Amino acid sequence: MDREVQLNEACEKFRKLMKGQLERVERMKNDGDFVDYSQKDKIRIGVCGGDGIGPIITAESVRVLKALTKDLVENGKIEIVGIEGLTIENRIAKMQPIPDDVLAEIKKCDVILKGPTTTPQKGSGMPNIESANVAMRKALDLFANVRPVRIPEEGIEWTIFRENTEGGYAVGSEGVNVTDDLAIDFTVTTKQGSERIAALAYDYARKNGYGRVSIVTKANVIKTTDGNFIRDCRKVSENYPEIVTDEWYADIMTAKLIDKKRRKDFKVLLLPNLYGDIISDEAAEFQGGVGTAGSANIGKKYAMFEAIHGSAPRMIDEGRGQYADPCSMLRATAMMLSHIGLNDRAEKLTAALDQCFAEKKLVITGRSDGATCSQYGDYVISKL
Ligand code: IPM
Ligand code: MG
Repeated sequence: MDREVQLNEACEKFRKLMKGQLERVERMKNDGDFVDYSQKDKIRIGVCGGDGIGPIITAESVRVLKALTKDLVENGKIEIVGIEGLTIENRIAKMQPIPDDVLAEIKKCDVILKGPTTTPQKGSGMPNIESANVAMRKALDLFANVRPVRIPEEGIEWTIFRENTEGGYAVGSEGVNVTDDLAIDFTVTTKQGSERIAALAYDYARKNGYGRVSIVTKANVIKTTDGNFIRDCRKVSENYPEIVTDEWYADIMTAKLIDKKRRKDFKVLLLPNLYGDIISDEAAEFQGGVGTAGSANIGKKYAMFEAIHGSAPRMIDEGRGQYADPCSMLRATAMMLSHIGLNDRAEKLTAALDQCFAEKKLVITGRSDGATCSQYGDYVISKL
């Protein structure tokens, strides 16, 4: 093909992407405030099981959730709504990351408890549809991905605030093959996007008495977008004079998290999307693996709570699904309870999980030498 034609086509695609992002900026500028759950007569919790081990660990969370909120379900303050169809088969059949009818059901809820969903990778033989997680974060504008990691015996109390709608993920499935030889992906940072995640991170640090927020980027190389992220977070930090802000590059941060002498000094980490993705898996590994970590995806109107890991198709292929660890989803459930203002119940669940983890009467190994997911669910319920 003629070089000029190729260039024009690529520029046209880039133009469309920029237009979409500028429209998103306008929407962010006109955004309202966070919803106040205490003003709601009823809170609707939508449950999507997902793929692989997703339905198994999600069902366990629903069982624990029902045990914890029996009175509220009975008096109609809480409704738990099962939402079908967020499966890889249905998503491929409809060729949509979240089929329209599923998204419509999701939007009728206030908060979503979501099991892991399979993300087709390019070249895997499956159609290259966008990850359901990423699509949901964008569709519901869930801009903050909050991932706590706690290791009490080591004094580790990290909370990761990962920007959740921008960076490499904003148009991650819309990169451009300019020619057969040249491909370009895009990373996106906006002033509004950086400020809102920073405000949430600093608010959290203030409320919880953490005197330090660490901004993690790769601004020595990715100068424009990461540079702006730092600039905008620093601006927000001026409203929090009691909190020390420091800056780290993502590579050295991965190393420092291994440094036993230094790592407990970190408290709140504030990062663009992709670095947050990588560092939160690393951080969770110290706590006992990604199977132990939950995550909150928070927006102004909606919020979604999920495990930080994937759907573990290998466990299903090998017939080990019933040995999946429900702790990640149970942690996510605790975060959801706290988000909707049920702090006492959230604390109860967290305490039960901590107790089971410390006591180790049952241990999950992912195999038949360990407890099953539902045995572990019973164990947790027995401690509530
Ligand atoms: C996560 C996951 C997702 C992400 C994948 C499944 C798209 O790794 O929630 O961290 O990269 O955000
Ligand atoms: Mg991840």
